[in-house]
Amino acid sequence: MPMLRVENLNKIFGTNPKSALPLVEKGLSREQVREQTGQTIGIANVNFEVQRGEILVVMGLSGSGKSTLVRCVNRLIEPTSGKIYIGDDEVTSMSRKQLISLRRRKLGMVFQHFALLPHRTVLSNAEYGLEVMGVDQTQRTEKAMEALKLVGLKGWENQYTSQLSGGMQQRVGLARALALDPEIILMDEALSALDPLIRTDMQNELIDLQRKLEKTILFITHDLTEAVNMGDRIVLMKDGKVVQIGTAEEILTNPASRYVERFVEELEKSKVLRAETIMRPIHEVIHGGDGPRAALHKIKKAGVSALFSVDSHGKLKGTVPADKAAQLVEKGVKDPKAMLDTNVKSVTLDTNLRDIMTLMVENRQPVAVVDDENTLKGVIVIGALLAAVSEHPESQESEAVESENTK
Ligand SMILES: Nc1ncnc2c1ncn2[C@@H]1O[C@H](COP(=O)(O)OP(=O)(O)O)[C@@H](O)[C@H]1O
Ligand SMILES: [Mg+2]
Repeated sequence: MPMLRVENLNKIFGTNPKSALPLVEKGLSREQVREQTGQTIGIANVNFEVQRGEILVVMGLSGSGKSTLVRCVNRLIEPTSGKIYIGDDEVTSMSRKQLISLRRRKLGMVFQHFALLPHRTVLSNAEYGLEVMGVDQTQRTEKAMEALKLVGLKGWENQYTSQLSGGMQQRVGLARALALDPEIILMDEALSALDPLIRTDMQNELIDLQRKLEKTILFITHDLTEAVNMGDRIVLMKDGKVVQIGTAEEILTNPASRYVERFVEELEKSKVLRAETIMRPIHEVIHGGDGPRAALHKIKKAGVSALFSVDSHGKLKGTVPADKAAQLVEKGVKDPKAMLDTNVKSVTLDTNLRDIMTLMVENRQPVAVVDDENTLKGVIVIGALLAAVSEHPESQESEAVESENTK
């Protein structure tokens, strides 16, 4: 049974929403409905399921109805018609009291503006949800500390949130949701305010966390790059309607909407673009002589979740993930080999974009670029890859995609 099921869901804004329903059900567009009734389609005829343990991404440009949809799911907004189920429970028919209990037991929510309390500590912010529920202090602290540890904020408990960077604050917001141990987490543009490097890193951490905790996540974003990186499947929305549902690969290889189609056309054209053109320089690597402690220091300083490891000739050996290094430091292990992950994906300088894309969609990890001697030359992260595609100057279409993408 799916964890979350949405059936024929409609939300119409205006003075008389129901009056517009017949037209909406006939499939008229937002523009047509507005002209004929003065009502605004928030979302129209939305259907999808989210399986237990899945990350489902809802993607669309600004105004496509993403926030309306996610707010209908926990009924912060009342749907005009349609049904929502969580497991066996029909959310749409619940009383106020049942709803409150549902939100406490099953539904966590993280927003872009997550309303942290600046004059409270990190711990106290993470405890907030539990506090509202009336959980006693000892248990509150215990659960909040556990959640803070999960999001990498152990040791930060007593800081004030106003002193933290955007990325750290977002972690606190996530910890607050996790402390309640919800089965489903709703995230509305939760990472959108972060700068790109931290954002990619948070995406990967969130994926790791999700695999570990097996939570079901409904993840909202306006950014195709983020959608491809995060989603097991993607629901693509436009003007309040679902235009396509599929895996990132399905959507990129068989696009149903003009928006994605144009994007993929760019991908086809960009066969001339090679790994060498889009790779980024590497500023820091792990050397053979670096032990776990030195490695962890370098990784933290670089602000990433892993670094490549090379031998004394600069040849690629593997990657060193931060969590692995941290584990070994904690255990007091000093052997550099113990932290090396040799299962690293690499491409050569002349690999074309299409092939890199396929590799990255399958692996979701940064890809190393090496020369014919396996010497490390650069790195490709998926953000840079997609940016290269949409910025490609050879066609004007690319500009349209680019501007739509950043709207
Ligand atoms: N409270 C509201 N009253 C009237 N129209 C609204 C309201 N909230 C959203 N809308 C409209 O519904 C559409 C979808 O908005 P929204 O769900 O916020 O989109 P997104 O989150 O994808 O940017 C937009 O056209 C928006 O103007
Ligand atoms: Mg929104």
